[in-house]
This record gives sequence, C-alpha cells and structure tokens, in this order.
Amino acid sequence: MNDEKKISSPDTTEQENTLTLRNLKVIFPNEAGVIRAVEGIDLDIKPGECVALVGESGCGKSMTSLAIMKLLSSPPAMIRVDELKLNGEDLTLLSEQKMQSIRGSQMSMIFQDAMTALNPVMTVGRQLDEIFMRHSNMKRKEAKEHSIKALAMVGVPSPELRYKDFPHQLSGGMRQRVLIAMAFACQPKLIIADEPTTALDVTIQAQVLELLSDMQRKHNTSLLLITHDLSIVANMADRIYVMYSGKIVETANAYELFKKPLHPYTEGLLGAIPRLSDDHHEFIQIPDSVPHPMFKPQGCYFHPRCRYATEECKCDMPPLREIAPGHCVRCFHPLSEKGEDK
Ligand SMILES: Nc1ncnc2c1ncn2[C@@H]1O[C@H](COP(=O)(O)OP(=O)(O)OP(=O)(O)O)[C@@H](O)[C@H]1O
Ligand SMILES: [Mg+2]
Repeated sequence: MNDEKKISSPDTTEQENTLTLRNLKVIFPNEAGVIRAVEGIDLDIKPGECVALVGESGCGKSMTSLAIMKLLSSPPAMIRVDELKLNGEDLTLLSEQKMQSIRGSQMSMIFQDAMTALNPVMTVGRQLDEIFMRHSNMKRKEAKEHSIKALAMVGVPSPELRYKDFPHQLSGGMRQRVLIAMAFACQPKLIIADEPTTALDVTIQAQVLELLSDMQRKHNTSLLLITHDLSIVANMADRIYVMYSGKIVETANAYELFKKPLHPYTEGLLGAIPRLSDDHHEFIQIPDSVPHPMFKPQGCYFHPRCRYATEECKCDMPPLREIAPGHCVRCFHPLSEKGEDK
C-alpha cells in the first residue's frame, strides 16, 4: 500500500472516476543500481475532466502515461501498482489481447511526434479506417465515410482529398490534427495527450490546443494532458498535478494552483511565465536541473534547488499533505505557511 495517508480528491462527488491510479511505481534495474522513474503516484480523473500532469524533462510523465495504457515493456521496466481502474474496470487483471481492444476504443493516446506515431506507408485515411473497422466493426465503405467526417471535424481542409494523403504529405499541424481525429474516433472515455504540441511552432501549437480542448468538451472526454509547460495548461486544465523526480509534489484545481502555489517548485514553474498584468513580475529561476534518477538526493528531492530548504528538508522526504480541500503539497514549509501567498 501507499505509505501516505489517503488524500481526498477535489470536487469529490459520488461520480465514479474515469481513471483511478494508486501507488504506481516504475523502476529500471541495471548493473549499476536502480532507476526509480516513478515512485508511488496516485491520480484521479473524473468524467469530462481535463487534468494536467506537469514537470520538467525526465521527471516520469511519459512513464506514468505508458504505464496507464499498459504500453511499457516489462522487462526492462518493473511496474507495481495497487490500483489501475478505467471506469471502475480493473485493468491490472486484463490480458494483452483485451487491452488491445480497450486501447483505441475506451482510452487512446496522442503522442508528441505524429511522424513516428503514424504509419509512413499507409494513407492517413486508411489509418483512420482501420480504427473504425477494428473497434466499431464497420465495413470499409462505412469506415471511409466516418474517416472523412472525422478529418473534417478536426479542421482538416478538403478532407476527401487529404484522406488519400500519406503522413509526409501533410504539415506538422495537420498531422497532429489527424492524430487527434484518430484518438477521438471511437469516442473513448479517456485520452492521454503526451506533449501533443511540443514539436509544433507557437501559432500552430495554440490552434492544436484549442482544437483538443474543443473536442474534449464536445465529447465530454476525460483528458490527461502531459506537458513541461505550465502556461499551456492555464486555459485548459481543471486540475493540475505537478511532478518532480518521480513523485507528485503538488496537486490542486488549476485556479488555486495558479493563484496560490504552495510548493517552491510550482512557484518556480509559474515564475517562468510572464504575465501582462504584472508590471513588477519577479522571474524566479529554478537553478540546476532534475537530479539523475540513479542519484536522487536524500530528503526532499527538490531541496538542492530550493531557496527555502532547511536541515529537515535535507534529511527526510516530506509526505504529500492536504493543506486545503483538494490542495495537496509535498513540502515541510509550504509557501502559504511562510506568509508568501501570491
Ligand atoms: N528504458 C529505460 N531504461 C532506463 N531508464 C529509463 C528508460 N526509459 C526511461 N527511463 C528513465 O525514466 C525517467 C523518466 O522518464 P520519462 O520519459 O517518463 O520522463 P518525462 O517526464 O516524460 O520527460 P520528457 O519531458 O523529456 O518527455 C528518466 O529519467 C529516464 O531516463
Ligand atoms: Mg515524456
């Protein structure tokens, strides 16, 4: 069991979670030791909710998402989880064959790099057809009609013509739209988007995020949006989990997290976002980088980079504590207790 006390999830109602994840651990053993990529993570996602998982490169975001999809190969990874449920169904018990039918139909993933996520030798139309044929038992003709509609719905111009294109014939933004169409094709309950716009330039990035947000609301899909950039989730996420070096260090609803961050790491992530309304905005820079997962420091993993660290932080790992309903922080000295509310 997770060694930490149970945290009430925010906005708790009787409504069943779309995703329940408890105490996920992902480690990679090697000759020199053990890489602890994910160290006991809990996540809850409600129906129709957009939840962001945010943290710097290497903190374990992708390993978490791949473990949820059961797409991590073991070996090399060793995966432990107390609970992994999609709409109440225990995924830990399912065979790979059953998981294959769940992926695409009940949960799907949008990857960062559409060029590698798409099959380069098959037209995008055919790739969409395959999804409709496999998961909705459609014949080719009916699947084609649905594929063209799906392309139109994600704003691909002249969808009948683009249907016949190979991935390399489309622009980066259009390819990402095709991935979004594929992810939503069978109206899954949960979509995981792992850095869906990092490979795109800024203007296209904004358009693709807006599309993703529109589609999510239209279909009332639960969305787990993974990113290293807090600013891109500001307008999209209902709730945010901040991850650092394999652990959740703060979670709150988006409004509260932006208004009143409690963890110095979150403060640093927010400090890097310029605000137009703020004339005297202080740019808080977090020095150095995430520790190598084989050489994590003793105590709080963030303490070598933390401007508030004390002796206690160097010795012990702080537990994740609920400071306000649904607002949890893994810090001995959360910012609110220092009177440094923003
Ligand atoms: N096959 C592997 N063998 C050993 N370590 C691995 C392996 N795959 C990933 N890791 C380690 O697991 C840690 C978490 O990786 P992960 O890809 O989840 O990070 P991330 O938060 O998604 O980063 P990014 O923002 O760069 O995508 C990293 O430190 C990485 O080095
Ligand atoms: Mg990643």
